[in-house]
Amino acid sequence: MKPYLLQTLKELALLGAIKNRIEISSLELAKQLEASQQTASRYLVELDKKGMITRELGIKKQLILVTTLGEQVLQEEHLQYQQIFELTDRVIFKGKVVSGLGEGRYYTEQSGYVKQFEEKLGFVPFPGTLNVEIEHVERNKLRLLKDHRAINIEEFKTKNRTFGGVRCFRAKIAGMDGAIVLPLRSHYSNILEFISPDFLREKLSLKDGDIVKIVIYFKK
Ligand code: CDP
Repeated sequence: MKPYLLQTLKELALLGAIKNRIEISSLELAKQLEASQQTASRYLVELDKKGMITRELGIKKQLILVTTLGEQVLQEEHLQYQQIFELTDRVIFKGKVVSGLGEGRYYTEQSGYVKQFEEKLGFVPFPGTLNVEIEHVERNKLRLLKDHRAINIEEFKTKNRTFGGVRCFRAKIAGMDGAIVLPLRSHYSNILEFISPDFLREKLSLKDGDIVKIVIYFKK
């Protein structure tokens, strides 16, 4: 979505064009947008072509209505502002499903972890972790995870070795409940590991490369 089209759509919506058709000349719109009349006209034509507005042309003025599609575009924008100003209790990541080395299964089956997952998260995880590689630009958001209080899974020892502590956050992937696990001793990674009571690849028909949305919730 080009910024100038978004701005035009927003101006039209502010004038009431989401609920009712508004009457506006391209000169009037040009003033609102601080652009030339020609430019404003062109923006309207583009929005019309994209199906974001409908126009009924008169001699000087035109009747304009923002379509459902146009409204969706503005809703998406609204959601992003909520992310900035209001939704501080969660962070949303987009990423793609990837395969790991099959280690997730080994760790999540250790009874020392399972007991704590059950007690602190309220479920026994399906063996393994679903790995999601987050987009490069989103790596900045990972810092938010460091700043928030996590559900802590303590380290424990078996006869042979020590298993390190893990920080968890409740999370949803494509709407399914689970948690993100962040091993304390792991270094920086652009992979989020998700545990869940369900076999997610099967439940959500996921395969490597699929794009998913993860919502991570912070404790109050
Ligand atoms: O290392 P990798 O992620 O490949 O394997 P794993 O952690 O041992 O998990 C085994 C398989 O189950 C992988 O394909 C995971 O993506 C998948 N999985 C899943 O679909 N749902 C879960 N809740 C956990 C793992």
